[in-house]
Amino acid sequence: MAGEDSIQELELSSPPCLHFIAAFLAMEPPDIIISFARDCGGGKILERVQRFIWEHCINRTDTKPFAPYLRSFLKKLIVEIESSGEVVIDELYEKYVYYMSLKDNESVKGNARFSKTISFLFPRECWDLSSCPKSRKLEVLLHCSVNMLEGDTGCTIWPSSLFLSEFILSFPEVFTNKSCFEVGSGVGLVGICLAHIKASQVILSDGDLSTLANMRLNLESNKLTTRNDFLEHAVDSNMVQCLHLPWESAAENELLQIKPDIVLGADVIYDPLCLPHLVRVLAVLLNREGLYADGRNDRSDVCPRNQKCAKSNTCCVFDGSLGKSTRNIDHNDVYMHNGLQRWPVAYIASVIRNIDTFNCFLALAEEANLSVLDITEKMKPFNLLPYAKSYQQSSIRMLCISYLSK
Ligand SMILES: C[S@@+](CC[C@H](N)C(=O)[O-])C[C@H]1O[C@@H](n2cnc3c(N)ncnc32)[C@H](O)[C@@H]1O
Ligand SMILES: *[C@@H]1O[C@H](CO)[C@@H](O)[C@H](O)[C@H]1NC(C)=O
Ligand SMILES: *[C@@H]1O[C@H](CO)[C@@H](O)[C@H](O)[C@H]1NC(C)=O
Ligand SMILES: *[C@@H]1O[C@H](CO)[C@@H](O)[C@H](O)[C@H]1NC(C)=O
Ligand SMILES: *[C@@H]1O[C@H](CO)[C@@H](O)[C@H](O)[C@H]1NC(C)=O
Repeated sequence: MAGEDSIQELELSSPPCLHFIAAFLAMEPPDIIISFARDCGGGKILERVQRFIWEHCINRTDTKPFAPYLRSFLKKLIVEIESSGEVVIDELYEKYVYYMSLKDNESVKGNARFSKTISFLFPRECWDLSSCPKSRKLEVLLHCSVNMLEGDTGCTIWPSSLFLSEFILSFPEVFTNKSCFEVGSGVGLVGICLAHIKASQVILSDGDLSTLANMRLNLESNKLTTRNDFLEHAVDSNMVQCLHLPWESAAENELLQIKPDIVLGADVIYDPLCLPHLVRVLAVLLNREGLYADGRNDRSDVCPRNQKCAKSNTCCVFDGSLGKSTRNIDHNDVYMHNGLQRWPVAYIASVIRNIDTFNCFLALAEEANLSVLDITEKMKPFNLLPYAKSYQQSSIRMLCISYLSK
């Protein structure tokens, strides 16, 4: 091919090329990926880069490509290559023609599942951490649904769980050898990160049964074993317990058995009707000593099992004065306290979509004697997903919640 001799050696293990693969496997928007491909090729998507794309992305057997995504990616890639006057390799053309010929059947249009790989790329600063794998990369394969509402939103990866995962991998000392319990676990990514940094016990939960089934599949795809009942002590560090735990019907005695050191949650503050139930669950888990004193300790009679947070008898009236807890304590105290006494503490990552809903959460937490600290600025995680341009760390807040003793 003309000009072949003048092509410089491409550094196919350079950041743009690695980011290109990671972004493709995470199904980032095609335009973003193509710009990585251009950077990987030093400006143009030459034949060598096309072969790299073919080998590392298209012709893989370990992931199930999602046809509509591949079709759109290949189309944009071919247009990009042709418009820069380069020649498209046959393999890419043939694959594109093949995907064009596939008709999206019903399952693709409805609740089709596909898999995405989230690659955490450890930067140089954390290569010394024991949590940093030798490969300096942690790849997590996750089955998700095309339908964001499937499984009560639990079959999609939400940005808060990416943030919480980066947080766990950036501050492994906070979680290692701790018993961790997550509410609203969705696809199970946070649990996989907790198992990776060797939490002593990983208990995930969700209120939706189809989400739980998908979560177990994900854990198993990542070489973890699962159980669907509660065990006081983990048998081995590769075991993750997956509990069906709708906040509205979780019985207090059931919650008190769990005794986690750390409670976690990602993107669980969004449905105002569920908030009183969520806060009750957090209060019971964080205040093991005393009973959660609102006189209605076990609300399983209030909300029949499996009835979504419809019947809520706590009304949330937003009043600007609420929500700004005046009894906040310094995070270092919480952290020290936690370190020394294993006082339970919760880390909740959240996108604030609706400020009234968020303030409602703060007001309910204050009423339940919970201190809510925003530690986003104090404990910034590494950016382990530099290729994920559709995800912004800055859109997430990290809350540290603990029970305020008198
Ligand atoms: C927006 S998704 C977040 C999922 C996951 N944590 C993430 O960030 O990707 C909310 C999750 O909370 C669960 N959830 C919602 N309401 C719940 C309730 N009342 N009880 C238990 N889980 C609930 C949903 O099933 C879903 O998995
Ligand atoms: C695609 O991958 C398969 C399985 O690894 C391999 O046998 C085949 O030769 C590859 N095709 C091309 C065109 O590289
Ligand atoms: C429909 O699509 C699904 C998922 O891609 C596939 O497993 C199934 O075989 C397809 N069915 C038909 C009739 O093409
Ligand atoms: C883990 O915690 C247990 C008890 O909490 C302690 O005995 C053990 O030494 C800890 N292990 C590590 C590696 O820190
Ligand atoms: C919160 O603390 C106050 C003061 O100690 C106590 O009177 C109240 O019952 C507590 N409320 C809850 C919900 O635990």
